[in-house]
Amino acid sequence: MKNIKKEIAQMLAEAVDKLSAGAAGLTAADIEGLIEIPGDTKLGDYAFPCFRLAKALRKAPAMIAADVAAEISGSGLFEKVQNVNAYVNMFISRSELAQITLTEVSEAGDRFGFCNEGEGKTVIVEYSSPNIAKPFHIGHIRTTVIGNSIYKLYDAIGYKTVRINHLGDYGTQFGKMIVAYRLWGNEEDVKREPIKTLLSYYVKFHEEAKEHPELEDQAREIFAKLEHGEPEEVKLWQWFREESLREFNRVYDMMGISFDSYAGESFYSDKMPAVLQELKDKGLLKESQGAQIVDLEEYGMSPALITKSDGSSLYITRDIAAAIYRKKTYDFYKNLYIVASQQNLHFAQWKKVLELMGYDWAKDCVHIPFGMVSLEEGTLSTRKGRVVFLEDVLNKAVEKTKEIIMEKNVNTENADETAKIVGIGAVMFQELSVSRIKDYTFMWDEVLNFDGETGPYVQYTHARAASVLRNSGVDVSRLDPAAMDYSYLESDAAFELIKLLYRYPEVVLEAAEKYEPSVVTRHIVDIAQAFNKFYHDEHILTDNEAERNARLLLTAAAKQTIRNGLDLLGIKAPEKM
Ligand code: ARG
Repeated sequence: MKNIKKEIAQMLAEAVDKLSAGAAGLTAADIEGLIEIPGDTKLGDYAFPCFRLAKALRKAPAMIAADVAAEISGSGLFEKVQNVNAYVNMFISRSELAQITLTEVSEAGDRFGFCNEGEGKTVIVEYSSPNIAKPFHIGHIRTTVIGNSIYKLYDAIGYKTVRINHLGDYGTQFGKMIVAYRLWGNEEDVKREPIKTLLSYYVKFHEEAKEHPELEDQAREIFAKLEHGEPEEVKLWQWFREESLREFNRVYDMMGISFDSYAGESFYSDKMPAVLQELKDKGLLKESQGAQIVDLEEYGMSPALITKSDGSSLYITRDIAAAIYRKKTYDFYKNLYIVASQQNLHFAQWKKVLELMGYDWAKDCVHIPFGMVSLEEGTLSTRKGRVVFLEDVLNKAVEKTKEIIMEKNVNTENADETAKIVGIGAVMFQELSVSRIKDYTFMWDEVLNFDGETGPYVQYTHARAASVLRNSGVDVSRLDPAAMDYSYLESDAAFELIKLLYRYPEVVLEAAEKYEPSVVTRHIVDIAQAFNKFYHDEHILTDNEAERNARLLLTAAAKQTIRNGLDLLGIKAPEKM
């Protein structure tokens, strides 16, 4: 799409060059950096401050602003150009902006907002990564949904992406699980309801272990057997893993989320000896009470525990092995970890160890933390078994949405399908609305409010636009953007909407750079609100064909952009609601 800011910078550079006879020495890129977007639209859509030119032009900045304004005011890009004090204020021609934007949206379609900035580079996005044989609970929603969106953002801006689910499928807890299963377990129960059953064994283990601490020793022993590949233990563990994955995948399917790799912690168990050797060779390992550590005191951190006194490997060791493996396998440009901020210390230690190992690519490994989600009822804990399953939350969302739909008595023919799209979309949208680092409380009334800044509101707006297009009887895809009369799109309501659509591709880039899907979420809420204002203020299906076509084209562009934005969040855009 035509980049208006760049074009203005070019124009200004030529004007400044002419006025200073080359003495100002400012390039178009310099000028682009100086251009401002005024907060108050009365001061124009773009503004250029002239203070910096005073020296080269030997004139007062306000006089320079007047000269510059006169130089550029002839351009068709502007409706008007004013100089106010030292500023040149530029007002974009509304019909020109409409033409640029709507032409681009029509041509790019589903790919509006995409670019090829990342061409030839690979980004690894690691997200979700639940622990097997443990509940997939509401606390996992953020990594899952934010990670999925970050993957989509990087895909949209042209990177090759690898989606990894670093399953927590290894560690001493499997020793506990196996001990518990052998003591109290029942195969039928596990098959029927794998995670809830395994969880009940785990809970029981912790209760019993209070009285019988020797259980803990048994669990450690069993884990050591597992790590040494004892067939009996491996078989049980594999079975727990399969049953768990079956449950996880059911939830991923509900949310339309998938992965390229499920290489979790266990995948690295055979890569551990080489890592230990390397740490030793590089002189980084220290013994401490039988355990092997990397001392990080110098860097203000507690030591990284590499192996326990019984020789078994630890979480961080597997993460070190994983990073090295990923660099070798994918030669990543960036390796992103979407993991809760509770693990900040873990990732800081891990990154430091990679640095100390001499890997300069450690800087390309980024931990992307996020805040906690709590429920109205109170907090969550796996140990005690008071747990809210994500699947239950999603099902409840669908149920509640169906009630709302039936009550509103809107289009009930596909009520079940719509309730799924809207209910699950609402929960995902909520997760992506708050800046990721913030803690927040999940509240049903907020999530499912059709009139708030919510998923249902945005989806409803999309369906409304779809319905206008259907009712028009016009095949909008056949309208020629080059043949429109854009003077029909100069109202304030249309202009506000068009400005937001024009900015959408920049918003996508910004969201990717900041690893912050909420930037897109907020922008499509703004677009939905602007579209609704346009819809209420203006009659779209007028008798005047040229007028009607222009407004339909804008409606189609708003619908397309909302759809593309929702897609980047992993949320479906219904045609009817
Ligand atoms: N399985 C861990 C948990 O549930 C999260 C794993 C995060 N990823 C990593 N590479 N350490 O807490």
